[in-house]
Amino acid sequence: MEMKPIGIIHTPFSDPVGMPIQPAGAAGVRGTVQVFDEYVPGLQDLEGFSHILLLYLFHRGEGFNLQVVPFMDTEPRGLFATRAPKRPNPIGLSLVQLDRVEGATLHVSGLDMLDGTPLLDIKPYVPDFDRQEQVRTGWLEQARKTVSKRRSDQRFQ
Ligand SMILES: C[S@@+](CC[C@H](N)C(=O)[O-])C[C@H]1O[C@@H](n2cnc3c(N)ncnc32)[C@H](O)[C@@H]1O
Repeated sequence: MEMKPIGIIHTPFSDPVGMPIQPAGAAGVRGTVQVFDEYVPGLQDLEGFSHILLLYLFHRGEGFNLQVVPFMDTEPRGLFATRAPKRPNPIGLSLVQLDRVEGATLHVSGLDMLDGTPLLDIKPYVPDFDRQEQVRTGWLEQARKTVSKRRSDQRFQ
């Protein structure tokens, strides 16, 4: 299996310490997605969407543990029940706001990844496809309400 980045995400964060841990904690954090020239024709029609899903590589940090103490908790949890960045296939997923498209550059806000993060894919966010009304949020049930205040630390570096 081989994947190639289709662009680079630029954000204000060069250090994980103190940065947001989810887009819900990154309101107003602006940045850009620079799409490589060969993929720019694929951006046609994207501007009609207010939000997009970015899939990307957690390129800083190596290895993984199948039990982790997540940013949102003090107890170990199964890796796949968390959004921890160190994973067997270190793929990140962020729902961000698309402010504007300018050629190969997407202006976006709500960013929770490091500057220079390699972009793997872009998909339009469509509530009718993706939103669920009846949900359970497991161990995050209480903690999730505090996500906007939580910040990253050295835990997964
Ligand atoms: C908890 S993850 C959540 C990312 C995404 N919203 C998700 O759910 O997949 C966000 C944290 O990953 C770390 N991180 C962000 N970009 C990274 C990168 N390119 N390489 C390694 N770690 C990164 C930072 O600690 C950041 O606060």
